Amino acid sequence: MKVDIGIQEKGRKEIADGLNIYLANLHVLYTKLHNYHWNIEGKSFFQLHAKLEELYDGVAAEIDEVAERVLQLGHRPLATMKDYLEVAQLKEIPSQKYSSEDVCQTLLEDFSFLAQELRKGAGVAGEYEDEVTVDMAVGSLAKYEKNIWMLNSFLG
Ligand SMILES: [Fe+2]
Repeated sequence: MKVDIGIQEKGRKEIADGLNIYLANLHVLYTKLHNYHWNIEGKSFFQLHAKLEELYDGVAAEIDEVAERVLQLGHRPLATMKDYLEVAQLKEIPSQKYSSEDVCQTLLEDFSFLAQELRKGAGVAGEYEDEVTVDMAVGSLAKYEKNIWMLNSFLG
């Protein structure tokens, strides 16, 4: 795709590749959040069932934003489940009963991983003066850091 937004192709490619890995991770996270939303059991069911819905709705919006940023950079977003599963770093989980501790502990690990990846990604985008991607990454990072704090508070 022909794109001239003042960022050299080398940078646009490197940033788009990073965004595609993040996009793949978000798809695994989206599915995992539904899995937990359905399979969580115990005294915190109502509270976490609702919170998980809020989280996967947020991830759905992020997925669209990330994919469209890849296009704005002149590249194609990954768009098949096969590609997402090949590229994603987050791991899927089986459909089974989960306790609130299982859910919060795993999400804490996944969110912490994503926060570290976003921080690195913002650094790379910054090197190429891609402030729009930096802004997106920092916006997401703020949400994950807030959720990490909340999950830690829940787990005590
Ligand atoms: Fe539901």
